[in-house]
Amino acid sequence: MRLCKTIEDIRSYVNAVRSEGKTVGLVPTMGYLHRGHLSLMHEAKGRCDVVVVSIFVNPTQFGPNEDYQAYPRDLKKDAGLVADAGVDVIFTPDVAEMYPTGFSSYVEVTGVSEFLCGASRPGHFRGVATVVSKLFHIVQPDMAFFGQKDFQQLLVIKRMVADLNMTVQIAEVPIVREDDGLAMSSRNVYLTPEGRKAALVLSRSLKLARELVAQGVLDIPRLREAVVREINGESLANIDYVEIRSIPDLLPLDKLQGQALLALAVRFGKSRLIDNTVLEA
Ligand code: PAJ
Repeated sequence: MRLCKTIEDIRSYVNAVRSEGKTVGLVPTMGYLHRGHLSLMHEAKGRCDVVVVSIFVNPTQFGPNEDYQAYPRDLKKDAGLVADAGVDVIFTPDVAEMYPTGFSSYVEVTGVSEFLCGASRPGHFRGVATVVSKLFHIVQPDMAFFGQKDFQQLLVIKRMVADLNMTVQIAEVPIVREDDGLAMSSRNVYLTPEGRKAALVLSRSLKLARELVAQGVLDIPRLREAVVREINGESLANIDYVEIRSIPDLLPLDKLQGQALLALAVRFGKSRLIDNTVLEA
């Protein structure tokens, strides 16, 4: 496995494999890898000849009071996991490589990026769209792989790719969970033992909503209330948002028809966790 630190380095690697007629898959990550990330890599390996994993904690997608400095990092361990997954190359640039002095261009996706996490984290999706767009231009992958764990991020990226006529194909991969239901996240390390237990209310409340839908409850305010009540039953949980919205535009709904996204953001102490499920009438 090769480790590329510079844009020049990854470009010359990718150019060489492309000239052999090979397809290239990109898995963008911020590192501190877990089984969720590995499932993206496995999917990419199954569908592309060469897989590039990027590891870059992107400062532009963190707000001024967010956890950019504290975000967990362990490149040595990550490199081992990536090598074990049979991935060909890691691209792990420095901040100055991606954002040199004078950097002033950003990608802003309106609409879909303004709700849910976009409302709670102003500027977050602008940073995500900008860095992902840069990675697409640097690596020029045939396909890029994203997890449904960050469902809104996936919708923002799909919108960007369509609107800006990017040729990369976006593939989505289901949420990987711990055995007890907690969605895997690099941020789970912030949880205290009590918070870790309390956080199970997320997957439990998503399951409750799916059960209610299966029983014929299609009224969105009623479904939403049931989820809010379940989460508020957990004393350590502090709701940021609970929303049931249309796919792919994330617009408000009155009644479930076809598919809708149920998305949650909840704080447990200092950790803010997100989770979601697709509800289907
Ligand atoms: P990061 O949080 O490291 O996630 C990288 C990719 O892994 C994302 O596509 C995310 O949806 C996916 N992922 C994370 N946890 C998952 C899980 N439990 N199951 C399935 N997939 C999971 O998302 C980012 O980084 C950044 O915003 C990035 C796109 C790299 C831009 O900086």
